[in-house]
Amino acid sequence: MTSIHDSEAVLVFDRVLPQHQAALTLIKDRLEDPSVPAFRWLDLACGRGQILLHAENAISTPRRQKVQYVGVDVENRFARDAKRIAERLFTSPQMIICDLHRFESLLAPTADFNFITFTNTAHEVTPTSLAETLVSAICRIADNGELFMYDMEQLATPELGAIPWSAAEMESVVHGALRAAGETAPLPAAAVWRHTSCTAWSLHINHRNLTLKNGECQKRRRDMLQAASERFAEVLRNKLLAINRGLEALCQYGPETPEEAKTAQRLTYDYWAVSRALDGPLILGSEPA
Ligand SMILES: C[S@@+](CC[C@H](N)C(=O)[O-])C[C@H]1O[C@@H](n2cnc3c(N)ncnc32)[C@H](O)[C@@H]1O
Repeated sequence: MTSIHDSEAVLVFDRVLPQHQAALTLIKDRLEDPSVPAFRWLDLACGRGQILLHAENAISTPRRQKVQYVGVDVENRFARDAKRIAERLFTSPQMIICDLHRFESLLAPTADFNFITFTNTAHEVTPTSLAETLVSAICRIADNGELFMYDMEQLATPELGAIPWSAAEMESVVHGALRAAGETAPLPAAAVWRHTSCTAWSLHINHRNLTLKNGECQKRRRDMLQAASERFAEVLRNKLLAINRGLEALCQYGPETPEEAKTAQRLTYDYWAVSRALDGPLILGSEPA
């Protein structure tokens, strides 16, 4: 199983998402540097190309011509939409259809990127796959490059099997991986964004602020993966305990407001997804043959 059933990718022409605006603002700035002749952009879980819709207006044609775009998604039908838009904007965009944790194995061994986007997707990926995806993404940031990640802390509509992560949780995993790579500089902090419909986090790794060189990450890849996986395991256990506490309280007194009823539903979805990720035993054992 590669993506969860409730996975959806939007393509809305008249709505720019703030996370896409933030990433495009950074990309535009880098493209305006006259000393940058070419710009490699890797868009992980590119979906249907929502971010690309707005690149057309935000970035001028001569700057866009510097971009070598690579989109990755597991869903062919989404990637096809993204490719159609990318072909309007960039010269020879490339699409890779694969599960996220495999994207690195399909790249040239030395390929790296000036900008990597990973938006609105972390909650859809299993923790094992996410650990590998994050480590691969970090290893593929060029020495002057950046990785921009963004996702919701809680989903407006729960999705079966999804695990939304908090800013602190993602920061802990990414910091674990960077320290295991041997990074000694102060590490990038996750930011929290309160929107009307949800709270979200972003994490922006700018390689210029690190002491590590890109090749050093590759050499420490195994340590990075182990550290990220251990952090995820710890985070998942704490998450399950917190979910259980929340459900216990609601079970005792019942939801008193519509908001609490929504919380009960969210916690139930979270409980199943987190216990599944921890390989939790089924309460009812296996079904009769
Ligand atoms: C909510 S959309 C986000 C799309 C885009 N990044 C954006 O910000 O608009 C999530 C995307 O992740 C993709 N996806 C989910 N799990 C995946 C996996 N394991 N490997 C590759 N792509 C995955 C889905 O197919 C979908 O296109």
